[in-house]
Amino acid sequence: KRALNIVKMKKMKQEGNPITMITAYDYPSAKLAEEADIDIILVGDSLGNVVLGYDSTIPVTTDDIVYHTRSVARAAGNTFIVADLPFMTYHGSIDETLRTVRRIMQEGHAHAVKMEGGAEIALQVQSIVQAGVPVLGHIGLTPQSVNQIGGYRVQGKDEQDARRLMEDAKALERAGVFGIVLELVTEEVAEAISKAVSVPTIGIGAGRRVDGQVLVFHDVLKYDSDYREKRFVKTYADIGAEIRQGIAAYVNEVKTRQFPAQEHVFNAEDTVIAGLYG
Ligand code: KIV
Ligand code: NA
Repeated sequence: KRALNIVKMKKMKQEGNPITMITAYDYPSAKLAEEADIDIILVGDSLGNVVLGYDSTIPVTTDDIVYHTRSVARAAGNTFIVADLPFMTYHGSIDETLRTVRRIMQEGHAHAVKMEGGAEIALQVQSIVQAGVPVLGHIGLTPQSVNQIGGYRVQGKDEQDARRLMEDAKALERAGVFGIVLELVTEEVAEAISKAVSVPTIGIGAGRRVDGQVLVFHDVLKYDSDYREKRFVKTYADIGAEIRQGIAAYVNEVKTRQFPAQEHVFNAEDTVIAGLYG
């Protein structure tokens, strides 16, 4: 298997072949995603919520993204990896923006970066693209701006908002993005944008008429202790419950002295110690 690239992604749009993307933040999850033939892995700053225990993406730092992207890249050497630029790392000087991107590419080993925003970040997008780094846009509900938006609400519901989203999508296309994530946007607006731009759109809560779909790993698999249903998510497994049951069974077997059993025990005649780390 060879990693997807941005040229093939555009072709997939033209051919009507849906692009698949899922987040991953560490080695085992990225490896499993690659083995499941995912097209793109996103090291999203949803990392903050689902892995680091924050209540938004705002506290996630460049160090966090670099650290997690490195482990994903070690696992998924044949998958296209996109990493999020963290909150407020691309709104100051171009120099600062490029320094952050350099770290995520050189230390994190991502293939591309994703940035939230429209026309207002077009200059930064352009500078990164000119440096040879593919950029994935992200408009609609942009969680890094949650305090300004005033909550996690559906975008594009009125005429003016729909027009603004369309203009942002076009501004990003002109700035050179290879694709655009549309988050929590009405299906109608997402369809109109997908038709208006030549680059693929990847939806999350943006309906059916986009060029690809992205979901958060922990949502797809219910990898949480108290998963809250989200209308735009479909869950395909319940590994939170599996993990809890598995750990509870281990605890119980130690308490009741069922584990370790005969087969787990070493005797003097055993010479091979297999399965240790190192
Ligand atoms: O951080 C993330 O997981 C994302 C996706 C929801 C698109 O940005
Ligand atoms: Na994100």
